[in-house]
Amino acid sequence: MVARDEKMIDRVVSSLSTILYGGDYNPEQWPEEVWQEDMKLMKEAHINEVTLNVFSWSLLQPSESEYDFHLLDRIVDICKANGLRIVMATGTGALPAWMCLRHPDVNRIGYNGEIYRHNGRENFCASSPTFRKYAGLLAAKMAQHYVERGDAGAGDSPIVAWHLSNEYSGFCWCDRCAQAFREWLKAKYHNNIDEVNDAWNAHMWSHTYHSFDEIFPPNTRGDGMEGGAYWAGHAVLGGYSLDYRHFYNDQVRACIKLERDAVRTYDTYAPITTNMMGTFNDYDYYKQGELLDVISWDSYPGLGEDAAVIDMRHDLMRGVAHGEPWMLMEQAPSNQNWMPYCYVKRPGQLAELSWQAVAHGANTVQYFQIRQARSGCEKFHSGIISADGTNKTRRFREAAQLGKQLEQLSAQILATKPRHGQVALIFDWNAWWDIQFSVGPTQALDYVAECQRWYRELHRRNIAVDVVSPLENLQDYQAVLTPCLQSVDKAVVENLRNYVSHGGRLLMTTMTAVADEHDSLYQGEQPVPLRDLAGIWVEETDSLAPSTPVGLAFTGEEAQAPQVSPSTSKERASAAGKATYGKATYGEVAGGKAIGNKVAGGEQPYGTTLFDILHADSDTEVLATYTDQFYAGTPALTFHALEQGGKLENGAAGVIYCATMPNEPAIARIVDRLLTGLAVEQMVTLPMCEKCQSCGTPCSPDCQKATSAIEITRRVARADKPGARDLVFVMNTAEPPVSFTAPVSGKDLLTGKLVKQGDTLTMAGFETLILQQ
Ligand code: GLA
Ligand code: ZN
Repeated sequence: MVARDEKMIDRVVSSLSTILYGGDYNPEQWPEEVWQEDMKLMKEAHINEVTLNVFSWSLLQPSESEYDFHLLDRIVDICKANGLRIVMATGTGALPAWMCLRHPDVNRIGYNGEIYRHNGRENFCASSPTFRKYAGLLAAKMAQHYVERGDAGAGDSPIVAWHLSNEYSGFCWCDRCAQAFREWLKAKYHNNIDEVNDAWNAHMWSHTYHSFDEIFPPNTRGDGMEGGAYWAGHAVLGGYSLDYRHFYNDQVRACIKLERDAVRTYDTYAPITTNMMGTFNDYDYYKQGELLDVISWDSYPGLGEDAAVIDMRHDLMRGVAHGEPWMLMEQAPSNQNWMPYCYVKRPGQLAELSWQAVAHGANTVQYFQIRQARSGCEKFHSGIISADGTNKTRRFREAAQLGKQLEQLSAQILATKPRHGQVALIFDWNAWWDIQFSVGPTQALDYVAECQRWYRELHRRNIAVDVVSPLENLQDYQAVLTPCLQSVDKAVVENLRNYVSHGGRLLMTTMTAVADEHDSLYQGEQPVPLRDLAGIWVEETDSLAPSTPVGLAFTGEEAQAPQVSPSTSKERASAAGKATYGKATYGEVAGGKAIGNKVAGGEQPYGTTLFDILHADSDTEVLATYTDQFYAGTPALTFHALEQGGKLENGAAGVIYCATMPNEPAIARIVDRLLTGLAVEQMVTLPMCEKCQSCGTPCSPDCQKATSAIEITRRVARADKPGARDLVFVMNTAEPPVSFTAPVSGKDLLTGKLVKQGDTLTMAGFETLILQQ
């Protein structure tokens, strides 16, 4: 892990001392009169920043030897004259057509061997020497030019950050990449083909290699799998496909590094970043993040995505930043254009989503884009300024109001930083890819969705969670979860073992620590490398269609048959949303500060999809058993204390093993057990509709859903900011208004209103309170 200079994020805002508020601005697409209009409107919207030059390579460089910064200079000058700060893109995110024509090596070859010619964007082959040469040159010339002009390189320069390329994505499968892959393998495996055969365990389907020349990229023309939906995209040799992923990641990292170093040669001050995309499959952002001064990312929640899904991405990006604040480089002012159904943001939702990002660590709020495109494939994507070109639209007014609030509260917000989580959820790209390339044991294991389901339960309780790399320092977490962390290498094993043996509590689930980093099953009793700590042996794993649940009986509760048989994960999610309350329990959570413990009791707990059939060691406590199938009565949830006789309620260290993919009511019960005896702060909101007020229990699914929509997240005072105070963001993340009991006190910075713990709070749809402590 490379430590990032934590003060770099401050440089993004230092010259303004306000939160950067603005976003992508592409004035090249309009005549100059429009720019002047834009400037006026931006001022009115309290916009203080523009991100320029994201896709202008072809305008800047008409041929191999010509560079023309004339137009960009004019744009920079106008922005400067209007007091705007600039995030300057290197502009290398899309190739110029002349380059694709005259230097075909820059073009990508697709997974099925498709030959591309200047298609779309992020269209370059990362191994192409021509691409690397010209991308590096452009980045260098840009930085040199703007430093020489006096626009970059110092604390008060208008250019406050550099933005490399744009949303790096995708792969290339060309012959040059093939050759580069062979060289990469030679370096990794000491020029010894037998080491490759060993790593990939290649002696199957006649895959033994005798020379590196026999190895091609594992696409459908090579070792990738075709043959129907089930096989397609999986791999014959998982280790082979995993290595290609790591190889291509390294190629992209080399491109990032060469642009970064080119910029750094001239601008020695401004932070350098590239915009990431959250739970994005292609690249390992932990590794990519090591190359960057600050982490930035683009948040585009889809219709119906709940706050937990959005926040897990924020928290992952903060994990990439090792807990430091980050930049919200893009969000849509209202609708995106690239979804099946492009919903417009509901009144108040833009601000709420922005505060949610700030609460989770964003120190900037930026958009794609300032003015809506007038044509092309993004013409239906919202801008702050729409086609009418006025300040009269709802989205403009809402953006302007938010801009004003950010301006007013900047000092207080920037004096805080995201809190360190009490619980960590491990998210890992290699494990994700390993599941993806595996054939079996189920097609219904969606790694990200599985992480989200566990995260959601913690989020529902407003517990501070960090989403982190399996190599992160885990010692300060009270509990750590590893949902379906299928592959683990030695370093990860050591980190997890170290965590538990120093007093940590680990929750492992089915499909954790099954394979090594090359996708080879660990030999021995599963989960081999953690078998002794987990105190169990998984003998076999049953896999059933998601529509066939297996009931779970928790010790201390009466067992009941599962009630529902939803067939898809979507149905399961919506069934969970409609869960009714039976005898919900409220009260203190052992050891925690919770004021209530919401556990859905109407829908019965059950497992789905995967069912480990396991043996518990004699000193392993069984916390739940299956109620169905031939393995009825056998353990489905266990706890193995690190020290003999250790008890959950005493905060004992050890491993909780969850042998199945539980439904939400089961996850709630398991998280109860995970947190038992630990001092994890939970801020659970109690519903307060009139009916509930009298009995203190949620009266209906609607009441339960409404209070689940309340999110409470803290930013903590920075030690180096005198007078700084903690801020607690209380947000209604959904449209219906909701009443509940306030679990914290503070003065709302947005309205001046005083909130007292225990008060009944009524919040409008998408309302936010920022409580100063
Ligand atoms: C991405 C890109 C932007 C734009 C937006 C549209 O985030 O970085 O250039 O295309 O999507 O939502
Ligand atoms: Zn290539």
